[in-house]
Amino acid sequence: MQLNILILPGDGIGAEVTREAVKVLHKVASKFHHEPVLSEGLLGGIAIHKTGTPLPQETIDLALKADATLMGAVGLPEFDNVAPDKRPERGLLGIRKVLGVYANLRPVRSYKALLDSSPLKNALVDGTDMIIVRELTGGIYYGTPRGIEGSGANERAVNTMAYTRPEIERVTRVAFHLAQNRRKKVTSVDKSNVIETSQLWRKVVIEVAAEFPDVTLDHLLVDTAAMQLVLNPRRFDVLVTENMFGDILSDEGAVLAGSIGMLPSASIGDKKPSGAWVGLYEPVHGSAPDIAGQSKANPFGAIGSVAAMLEYSFGLKDEAAAVNRAVETVLNSGRVTADLKPSGKPATTSEVGDAVAEAI
Ligand code: IPM
Ligand code: MG
Repeated sequence: MQLNILILPGDGIGAEVTREAVKVLHKVASKFHHEPVLSEGLLGGIAIHKTGTPLPQETIDLALKADATLMGAVGLPEFDNVAPDKRPERGLLGIRKVLGVYANLRPVRSYKALLDSSPLKNALVDGTDMIIVRELTGGIYYGTPRGIEGSGANERAVNTMAYTRPEIERVTRVAFHLAQNRRKKVTSVDKSNVIETSQLWRKVVIEVAAEFPDVTLDHLLVDTAAMQLVLNPRRFDVLVTENMFGDILSDEGAVLAGSIGMLPSASIGDKKPSGAWVGLYEPVHGSAPDIAGQSKANPFGAIGSVAAMLEYSFGLKDEAAAVNRAVETVLNSGRVTADLKPSGKPATTSEVGDAVAEAI
């Protein structure tokens, strides 16, 4: 099978972890006789430096043409004090919107080999296995009006959190479909005791749930959910929530997995006529400028994102499983980067990539 993939390395450690993910992709493709056809594009800070905009039209065209997009991370410190619409992150929000990838799947699981990497007690973390489904193309990230106006005592900033019924319905259906193939439980997270978008969210989720009588549904307010995630993580199977709540809770979930470097993500939109998903695949972590260029970055999140891509965008379940098994083998071998607190000398980013490729 031909695998037409756009690679967007982005900024900081994005390029470093993406290189290892591509290495693993080549290995699994050759083992299973597929042909990767890769193109590369600019996104984020590097795109601003080279073209003046975080999401050049050329990148949009490449992404629309590719079967799937693999992304590193975006964000550079020199843009820290720049207005939101001129920042590297705006490129990421733009490409999510252009591709229409409204459901962001962030699996959070604990690996036996990493129980000691989490600051939480082993007995609490052990057995964690959930997917956070984050709505990705709506809510406060995109709502208008937005902006800062006035000056002095009259300076005022506004953002808008808005959701339509169809936006809630489609991401909820993704969550329920996932739950049907797992432990058949969906937890919807909102703030319906205070905000209207959450009241609509809860109402629509309850309606959609009626289409899935085999799946149980419960609801948590987001503050309680934040607490339950670290008190009783095994209670979660599929957690579905709006864009910003999902952003925040998934970083909290990283503590359960041992390091934010472990978390992959798959952002999917509607199915194509072929049955494959339009998809954007990226690790959950950011560009980490503080460790960029030091070969310290953990590439497992990026490598796991390749596995997700093989599964969702190409329907290649065995290939995805081979990557995930190789990740597990390397974790058990202890050849991991410093963030996972190995007992021996930490491995470099490319040593981990080599080890995973070898284990396939
Ligand atoms: C994430 C990141 C992004 C987000 C940033 C970099 C814009 O935190 O993917 O979780 O908030 O969506
Ligand atoms: Mg985030």
